[in-house]
Amino acid sequence: MTRGSTRYSLASVDDPTSYSYSKEKRKCGRNVIYSICVIISIILIVIAALLVAALIRALMLEVPSYVHPSTMEQIMQLPNMSSSTFLNLPSILGMALTFPTITNSSGSYDPVVFRGFREFLVHSFPNVFSSSNVEVHDSFPSFLLTVQGSGENATANSFLLLGHMDVVPVDASAWDDDPFSGKWLDKETEGGGFVYGRGAIDDKLSVVAILCALDELIASGWSPNSTFYIAFGHDEEVGGEYGARRLANFLESKGVKDLLFILDEGMPILEGAIAGLEVPVAIIGVTEKGWMDIRVEATGVAGHSSIPPLSQATHALATAIHNLHSSPHPVFLNDGPEEHLLLAVAPKSSWPQRLALSNPWLFRNMISAVFSRKRETDAMQRTTTATTIISGGVKDNVVPGTAWALVNHRVHPSESLEEVVRHDISAINDDNINVTVLDSRAPHPISPYGASSPAFSLLASVALRVCPEAVPAPGVLVANTDTRHYLQFSRSVYRAMPYLLTPQDLAGIHGNNERISAANVWRAAQYYHTLIMAADLGLANSHYSQAGRGGREL
Ligand SMILES: *[C@@H]1O[C@H](CO)[C@@H](O)[C@H](O)[C@H]1NC(C)=O
Ligand SMILES: *[C@@H]1O[C@H](CO)[C@@H](O)[C@H](O)[C@H]1NC(C)=O
Ligand SMILES: *[C@@H]1O[C@H](CO)[C@@H](O)[C@H](O)[C@H]1NC(C)=O
Ligand SMILES: *[C@@H]1O[C@H](CO)[C@@H](O)[C@H](O)[C@H]1NC(C)=O
Ligand SMILES: *[C@@H]1O[C@H](CO)[C@@H](O)[C@H](O)[C@H]1NC(C)=O
Ligand SMILES: [Zn+2]
Repeated sequence: MTRGSTRYSLASVDDPTSYSYSKEKRKCGRNVIYSICVIISIILIVIAALLVAALIRALMLEVPSYVHPSTMEQIMQLPNMSSSTFLNLPSILGMALTFPTITNSSGSYDPVVFRGFREFLVHSFPNVFSSSNVEVHDSFPSFLLTVQGSGENATANSFLLLGHMDVVPVDASAWDDDPFSGKWLDKETEGGGFVYGRGAIDDKLSVVAILCALDELIASGWSPNSTFYIAFGHDEEVGGEYGARRLANFLESKGVKDLLFILDEGMPILEGAIAGLEVPVAIIGVTEKGWMDIRVEATGVAGHSSIPPLSQATHALATAIHNLHSSPHPVFLNDGPEEHLLLAVAPKSSWPQRLALSNPWLFRNMISAVFSRKRETDAMQRTTTATTIISGGVKDNVVPGTAWALVNHRVHPSESLEEVVRHDISAINDDNINVTVLDSRAPHPISPYGASSPAFSLLASVALRVCPEAVPAPGVLVANTDTRHYLQFSRSVYRAMPYLLTPQDLAGIHGNNERISAANVWRAAQYYHTLIMAADLGLANSHYSQAGRGGREL
């Protein structure tokens, strides 16, 4: 007999109330267990229901129809390029790369190098620069071409193509070969090898490919109905204050407004960047991030390092920077272009990624955790934080009274500049740290995208002509372009490059061993050739007359 049963029997005999109390207690315990079971069952049922809903959505979701089938058919029928200039374009790009058109800082450039580069362009694309239809506005070293339309309404389908002639400096010792050699390597291999040198991707290919396309169009006797514009800056890499800004002033003075679209360098056709995605994604940048420089300053007691002050500015600054980096800015994934990018690529992704990408509403945190692990994807989803300068102290035995750091943010379009500062102050969480905004620029407005946005749809269709296996999708450009000087001319401003690139290729941009495949060189020229013809034919409007310009439907 156990002691427990003894007590039970005692209680049952001697104290009926105690007996019923313990029976109550067990009943009550059973009730609690029962309730917990019910709650767990409900939770399991809800989870199962959510998973079933997510699975159904993943199975049903289709690639968004950004492209109209009959527009696509017309675009496929536009001619292929075939001129000798076109076939020679990798060589021409190579020669373009031999001009070290470096900009180090705003307002400084080498006029001799740029003069040479400009003459080289005139020499390489003679039909453009000798055409009576093309007017050159020279704002040396930058320039703008006006290609005169002869239709009844010369502004009906006007657009603007942008590019830049300058490149960022190089660390030549880190390159395998001369960064300004412009060599066409492995020419005989399948695909035609690649062209090597600073500016191959960013952004001399756009410049030569646009001019090559126009050169062939003019040589073939083509002339547009609508007037369009091509603008090439010389200081994009340092802000465009003397290049793009002046060209924009010129357009303003000509009364240009309400363009069908503006296209600048930007997101490429990316391959192998998203885990589980088996096809390339042709990302069209519909906005770009803003910018903010803040100065973080700590003040402490100055003195001799043999009797160091208990509170030191350098230590306070280090703590402030640590806190700032430990508390990243919020993630924006299920809102705007990012979500539509995920939904566009989901149907072409393998399982289980397909389940997650189809349902950002459910798997937001999981997707965001995966994105946070790579700097490229993390930059897409939030405002980034980079501490770029730290300063404090002058001598090894003097404790400085102040220390400061410069922090550079790239501001996500879903976060306002005020919110960025508020987040920083609360992350630093120290009243003795002085946070000052030195410089800031708001993110750009989000351009129309979706099936009923004529210009977005046109760009998606033309991208599919030169890369049929890709899925088009909207996206956020994490860097900055010259478009900031041109925003007043159109609501439909896009940042995209028709080059099929891998993340390794992207590392060459502003990095070492920048190069581009010859196949991409030809793809680029064919893209601009088709785009110019298709836009002028009104293919951006014919199927979307109700939505009209800048129509937006998501
Ligand atoms: C362009 O070239 C491709 C590949 O050679 C070919 O399939 C297509 O039919 C050509 N298109 C036109 C309009 O000639
Ligand atoms: C840019 O900086 C490099 C290295 O300091 C220098 O050699 C070059 O002359 C500079 N170029 C211009 C245009 O300022
Ligand atoms: C020319 O086309 C533009 C853009 O579609 C339109 O706003 C304008 O009214 C047209 N002008 C004439 C004279 O038809
Ligand atoms: C904070 O820094 C700014 C700029 O450096 C300065 O003008 C201001 O006086 C500082 N404020 C304090 C409380 O130190
Ligand atoms: C120009 O407009 C005319 C009349 O609308 C049309 O027949 C022709 O195809 C157009 N040309 C181009 C290059 O768009
Ligand atoms: Zn660039």
